[in-house]
Amino acid sequence: MDDRELLQRANDARALAYIPYSGFAVGAALLCTDGTVFIGVNIENAAYGPSVCAERVAIFKAISEGRRDFVKLAVTCDGDHCRPCGVCRQVMFEHAPDMEVLMGNPDGEFVRTTVGELLPDGFSM
Ligand code: THU
Repeated sequence: MDDRELLQRANDARALAYIPYSGFAVGAALLCTDGTVFIGVNIENAAYGPSVCAERVAIFKAISEGRRDFVKLAVTCDGDHCRPCGVCRQVMFEHAPDMEVLMGNPDGEFVRTTVGELLPDGFSM
């Protein structure tokens, strides 16, 4: 799976976002070593606090299916490119500190980075 395809999976996923409060759709697509892709969308809640970001949904889906071999995560939303929040950066740092991250938008434009660049000197036990 090449970068464009992974970004397309993230963009396609945005249609499934549960966003009655913000109206702001985010999609993520997480690539594993064997080519398996887990998608995630942001899922909001009337109590706000329980809302969860697209990136974490994709990562938690994969972990709960027994996967840890993450190669690359694409995340897309409206704007020039989609920047993962601080909580998602910490979750990426926990489970895939060397992972590549593609920060994209609905037009297929993207910026390539890494978890290390997104969260330098991150916390670990
Ligand atoms: N959101 C994500 O899904 N990922 C991020 O990294 C940042 C923000 C979602 C949360 C909320 O549903 C909406 O975007 C607006 O903040």
